[in-house]
Amino acid sequence: MQIGIDRLGMYSPHFFVDLKDLAEARGVDPNKFIIGIGQSEQAVAPSSEDVVTMGANAAAEFIDDIDTSKVGLVILGTETGIDASKSGAVIIQRLLGLPEWVRTYEIKQACYGGTAGLMTARDYVAAHPDKTALVIAADIARYGLNSGGEVTQGAGAVAMLISANPAIMTINDDSVFMSRDIMDFWRPVYTDLALAKGKYSTEQYIKFFDDVWARYQQQTGLTLDDFAAVNFHLPYTKMGLKAFWTALPEVSEDKQTALLDAYQESTVYSRRIGNIYTGSLYLGLVSLLENDGHVQAGDRLGMFSYGSGAVGEFFSGELQEGFARFLHADAHREYLDSRQRLSVAEYERVFNNKVPYSADDYSADPQYLSGRYVLTGVENQERQYEERPE
Ligand code: COA
Repeated sequence: MQIGIDRLGMYSPHFFVDLKDLAEARGVDPNKFIIGIGQSEQAVAPSSEDVVTMGANAAAEFIDDIDTSKVGLVILGTETGIDASKSGAVIIQRLLGLPEWVRTYEIKQACYGGTAGLMTARDYVAAHPDKTALVIAADIARYGLNSGGEVTQGAGAVAMLISANPAIMTINDDSVFMSRDIMDFWRPVYTDLALAKGKYSTEQYIKFFDDVWARYQQQTGLTLDDFAAVNFHLPYTKMGLKAFWTALPEVSEDKQTALLDAYQESTVYSRRIGNIYTGSLYLGLVSLLENDGHVQAGDRLGMFSYGSGAVGEFFSGELQEGFARFLHADAHREYLDSRQRLSVAEYERVFNNKVPYSADDYSADPQYLSGRYVLTGVENQERQYEERPE
């Protein structure tokens, strides 16, 4: 039985900061951000958006078109969860109006959480072929104003419906994964700002890619020639490229050019949204499918997932006949083009206006409400969510 991605949705907040403006404000050459790091714009999440609202908004792209009585599992992969105990998945289940006969939980392993959810969902559908699973990968990447990582912030979510005989892409049973306890990036519970050893995390990312890719080739006998494209986890768009460069010399120059072209298409959305941690690999998949005119049914795509700390995994998928009918290319382009550009001063204000780490009540600024699902505030330490009229 073939199992894989049957529906794909994405969401990112309505506000962004242009990285040329940010570079100017920080006294940095804009080319460092745009070329050196490979980011052009960065989504800014107001405090009315969190992983619950963004995840529900991503799933809203297809939830009305699916048979929700078949959904047996809802997993939220995130590393910016809103509670240390209760999962965001159970709130998303309510917001989306899903039946109560469903298992809901949250998974954490840095940026690997989306893949952990996907693989768990794949196993679930293998055991229950008549059921489906909703996997949501959502995050808000925050490093802090004026920090080295500020240029790699971002916010957004990707939602995937996993089923038997999927409409978009099968997930092959060829995963190679590894775990190694390292400290390259982490976030202690007292802060909403991530800590990263920039150079070290880049080295580790590349090392993990090299190790799982070598083992994958050994175990499957496949080479890069067997792939139409390889999607990477993208903390920033240059990062995947650095890993890819280590493998590309294995194939002809023509093949290298084709794979690099596809890589560029897989980074179109990340360049404009930034890092969305758990969802970033899958945002790359959406970007590739919606921006590359060359990938077609029957193509094998590689997927490299990396979550600091660290877990790496390489697996492949095969595109299905008619997959393009289930994408939202025009709507996504229009949405990204229609976002509101914030000045650096406004971005800083929005960044600092956050739900407090305290028992105080809080109201989100109504001028930044956007999207179908929002967080209006916190009352008596309970987060208040609302569905807005479309
Ligand atoms: N024009 C073009 N390129 C320029 C440039 C300019 N004017 N100025 C610098 N660059 C290039 C550098 O050569 C470098 O390229 P390279 O990486 O290919 O060598 C790149 O821009 C970054 O410059 P660097 O000096 O290394 O930046 P930095 O020390 O400020 O680090 C980050 C910035 C974002 C790379 C670092 O903070 C980081 O890695 N943070 C996040 C890490 C992360 O997300 N980890 C998650 C785990 S996967």
